Amino acid sequence: MKRILSCMQPTSHLHLGNYLGALKNWVKLQDEGGECFYGVVDLHAITQPYEQDALKQATREIAAAYIAGGVDPKKSALFVQSSVPEHSQLMWLLATMSQMGKLERMTQFKDKAGKHKERAGLGLFAYPVLMAADILIYNATHVPVGEDQKQHLELARDIASTFNTRYGVEHFVQPEPYIMGEATRVMSLRDGTQKMSKSAESDMSRINLTDDADTIAKKIRKAKTDADALPDNMKALEDRPEAKNLVTLYGALADKTSDAVIKEFAGKTFSEFKPALADVAVAHLEPITKRMTELMSDTAEIDAILHKGAEKARGVAKPIFQQTMDIMGFWK
Ligand code: TRP
Repeated sequence: MKRILSCMQPTSHLHLGNYLGALKNWVKLQDEGGECFYGVVDLHAITQPYEQDALKQATREIAAAYIAGGVDPKKSALFVQSSVPEHSQLMWLLATMSQMGKLERMTQFKDKAGKHKERAGLGLFAYPVLMAADILIYNATHVPVGEDQKQHLELARDIASTFNTRYGVEHFVQPEPYIMGEATRVMSLRDGTQKMSKSAESDMSRINLTDDADTIAKKIRKAKTDADALPDNMKALEDRPEAKNLVTLYGALADKTSDAVIKEFAGKTFSEFKPALADVAVAHLEPITKRMTELMSDTAEIDAILHKGAEKARGVAKPIFQQTMDIMGFWK
């Protein structure tokens, strides 16, 4: 059976790109009957400057988005990383077999550390080792991630095989990446060449899962486009990234192919297309944002789900951690 694991950091609001590019696929994998573990990785979130007062809230908000987006706590283990201590315990063990040279080559580290690498924290440097532990502590077989996380997953595979070779065992499973999102790569509403992102300055560039219907409609109305009408095929949109993004978005929201959407709207201008897009966006997102608001207004339900999820996750993580200790020769 497939054992699926994926995680998001509680850094700030989730947006439409996270939903269509990741969460929607997680739900699909869950409903196809995989054994799923979905984590909120708070220990990763503190590798960069953060507000201590906001961490709890952000953690609950990501969990709320998972639930509102369709992750079913009865089927999937939904947990907070720091409440399953085996993640960080395993990380230490794996750190002893992770090469600094490989960690130095991680593009995310280079991006985040910036010009002054020597001032970057050890946590930021070791981030991919913790991520490897997140995966290996469950012996996950499949890990849905975006293209930007592929290098980290490669490292996790590398660490798993180093462990197995060094101790002469078949202990850790080699996790397979599930690269998602090429079809539903959601771009910024302000610049069709940039990914929709949590960190982009303008809030108008993204649709947050906490936006209400009016805000969603307004952001779509104001999205950057051009004056031309829509053609009748996607190829003709190659050099019109903003137009292409909105058509792709419509397809992803309405569960249609982009080709079907462009045929439907061929010859129409954006003043006609945008209201139609706003309608599908609101229809699709409103139940999600409503449920999220509901969950966030009384955190007892989320907290109970997360406690249960942590228990379920630990049920799997603990024996794997103990076996790892045994293989490595620790006293007990
Ligand atoms: N590094 C991932 C990101 O920034 C988040 C993450 C942490 C993750 N641990 C993971 C994703 C394990 C998949 C599996 O998006």
